[in-house]
Formats: sequence, structure tokens, C-alpha cells
Amino acid sequence: MNPIKVNIKNINGFVDHQKVDSYYPKISGSVQAVLNKTGAGKEFLGWVTLPENTDVRLLEDIQATAVKIRQMADVFVVIGIGGSYLGARAVIEALKHQFDQLLPSKKSNHPVILYAGQNLSEDYLSSLLEVLDYHDYAVNVISKSGTTTEPAIAFRILKNHLEKKYGPDGARERIIATTDHSRGALRKLSDKLGYKTFIVPDDIGGRYSVLTPVGLLPVAVAGFDIKALVEGASDMAGQLITAQQPENNPAAQYVAARNALYDQGKFIEILVTYQPNLYYLTEWWKQLYGESEGKAGKGIFPAAVTNTTDLHSMGQYIQEGERKLFETVLSVNEPSRKLIIPDDKENSDQLNYLSGKNIHFVNQMAEKGTILAHLDGGVPCIEITIPKIDEYNLGALIYFFEFACALSGYVLGINPFDQPGVEAYKKNMFALLGKPGSEVESKIIRERLGMKVV
Ligand code: PA5
Repeated sequence: MNPIKVNIKNINGFVDHQKVDSYYPKISGSVQAVLNKTGAGKEFLGWVTLPENTDVRLLEDIQATAVKIRQMADVFVVIGIGGSYLGARAVIEALKHQFDQLLPSKKSNHPVILYAGQNLSEDYLSSLLEVLDYHDYAVNVISKSGTTTEPAIAFRILKNHLEKKYGPDGARERIIATTDHSRGALRKLSDKLGYKTFIVPDDIGGRYSVLTPVGLLPVAVAGFDIKALVEGASDMAGQLITAQQPENNPAAQYVAARNALYDQGKFIEILVTYQPNLYYLTEWWKQLYGESEGKAGKGIFPAAVTNTTDLHSMGQYIQEGERKLFETVLSVNEPSRKLIIPDDKENSDQLNYLSGKNIHFVNQMAEKGTILAHLDGGVPCIEITIPKIDEYNLGALIYFFEFACALSGYVLGINPFDQPGVEAYKKNMFALLGKPGSEVESKIIRERLGMKVV
């Protein structure tokens, strides 16, 4: 089975065929570097064989923990940021009922999933605490390093709230930590206080970790089939790793096309979806590609739009603005639900020509029409199609994007598994906050910002 189809014919006219083909030898070399662990960041390639190696006992432990959480909590707060947040949210938002919080509760036998630690907003956290006063809840704090400021602050606040609400023993039952097996403040605290823990493997970085317990526990608590998610990824891995020819390797086609376009000055890639429940999937993709490729003064800038909503905001720019863009349209063949446009005797809205058609058909025609309009406007388009949004296909898509990202990073000549640039803001923030050890930087920065030196 081949759940993902890549169509690059709509880049013809913007970049010639030979240019695209010239990337394939480099891409084959990159596949070998990934498989043989010979490239930059080779110590972070654990995700490559993760799906096929996922231990069934780990999946069972995650499922059993999810059942326990479902019994004790009607709200589950996932604390994490970046790669310790976006993957879980991408999968959950893609699969969940879009208005689940308003469903009669008997219909929903799993907790509402809320998120914390992905920002530093006092209003956000205060509102969350206010809501949690009314609900039984549990928390999954996720941090590979165990020291990231945003989730650490959120966890301190929620731990305190849980301990007041349920007492120290009750709180312990309701806290699950996903972190390193031996290092970091969160590991130390978990061992000291006896929290249930799951491990983020050493050889898997945050943004490649959605198929580890980082993503799998929240997804299981939300009521989705993690086995099917891993199976989809595993089948995709099998296909991408064994494909000998680029035409059988959708990741190679995607990588060749986007790098050939980048070479022509198209340095902004817009991931386009027509399904609002894929919004967080586009956010996850932005992090994966932005943090992996944007370094050493290089890299395609990853952007995203959700159509047709954004056709009424960003559509104008995409059609007629700076011609530095290309689009990657993420198409979904089949909707999960059906809704037919009814006939109307009056036809005062003049829509009877659509009577009997389903909404997805209208959406698909909007998608096809927009691709053509953007091509005419000078925006080349890569199409990636999945059959439908379910666990299996999402697992395949996640693996596809991860594999392609690694190859693309190697083609670009950078290390796709580090993120040195993320430290710059942290250094300044710590200095401004007066973190012990940053006294010298603090003085310099405060002077630069015209602030009182303390
Ligand atoms: O992809 C990454 O490595 C980052 O986005 C991290 O996931 C993010 O910074 C959070 O790190 P941690 O899990 O250590 O708290």
C-alpha cells in the first residue's frame, strides 16, 4: 500500500526537469547517510527505525496508563513546548471531533485535552487554573532536557495546584512525566517524588519524537489508536527505506522538487491545507522544517495557510505579491463524515446548482481552482495527497515528513538535528531575569535596552 502520493508536475515551467533530476544522486547519498548513520547529527537518528522497533510492551504500558487517566480525569493537561508539544497536538486535533467540548458528555468517554507550558502568558495560565478548579484532572509533563523554562514554570504551578487539590499522594497519582532516562531536573524530581515516567530515547530529538511516548501517551489518552499510528509510520518507513528509484520514493520527489525551487529563488514554502483540523499538523511541520533547516544563513522559510479561510486573507498576497513563494498542498481524498448540500425550492441564494453535492466536493473544486490560479500567478505547486485523515495515514505522513526533512537537510549541507539558534533568546531572557551566573550578560543587556542595571 502507498498511502502518500506526491505530484511535482506543477513545478514544470518554473524549474526544468534536469534540474530536479540532478538532485536525485545527492538524495540517494543522503538516504545512505541516514541509514548508515554517517551524516551530521548521526547520534539523533533513532527515529528512523523507531516505528518498526516500537516494543509492544511499551504500547501496552501507554494504553494501560491512558485507561487509568481516563478513569480519574475529565481533563488532561499536556505540558510541553516545541517538539515536546506540537506532535501530540497535531495528531489529536487532526483526529478529534472538532466541537468535542460541546458534545453531551455521555458521547465522550475520554478527557478533554488542554495544553500548558507552550507559552509564558499569565492570562493563559490563570484561565487554565480557574477551569481546573472545576474539574478532576491529570497532567503529563513532557521535557526531554527537563530544564526548559516554559514547561518548568507551568509544571511548578500545576503541581502546586494538584497538591493543594488532591494532597501529595493524590497529586503523585495524577502526574506522569515524559523525560530523559537519567538526566535533567524533571528526571530527578520524578524519581524523588515517585511519578510514573516514560522515557524520551537519547537518540531522538524533540521534533522527531511524536512517535515516542512524547506523542503516544497524550494521543492514547485522547482515545486514539496508537498502534495504527505506529503501523502507518512503520509501513511508510519500509517504503521509503527500500525504494531504489526516485519515482518510487515520494520523499525523494518532494525533496528534489523543493530544493530545485529553492535554488530558483523560491525560498518560502507554504504548506496548504483545506482541512482546519490539520492546522496543528501544519504547525508541527513548520517547527520540523524551520528548526531543522534554518541555519548557517540557509533554508526554506516554512509558512502555512488553512484554506479556504486564508484565501480571504493571505490569498491576495499569494496570488499577486512577491514571487518568492511555492506551495505544498496537502490534499485529503476522502472526508471522515458526509454532508450534502440540500435543495432549496426558492433558490434565492442561487446555489441549487450545488444541490445534492457534498461539501468536500466543493472544497476539492476550490482546491483545484486555487492551485491553477496560483500557478497562473507564478506560484509553483507540489501536491501531497493522503487517502483520509485517520491514525494510519497520519502515522505515514509524519514519518514521510520526518524522513524528507532529514534528507533535505543533508542536501542543503546542514545538520538537521540540532537547533543552536534557539539558545540566543534564552541567554538574553535568563540575563534579564537575573538567573544566577548571568550577572555579566545581565549588565550588558540591560544597558543595551536602556533598562536600570541591578
Ligand atoms: O525539537 C526540539 O528539540 C525542540 O523543539 C524541543 O523539543 C523543545 O525545545 C523542548 O525541549 P525539551 O523537551 O527539552 O523541554
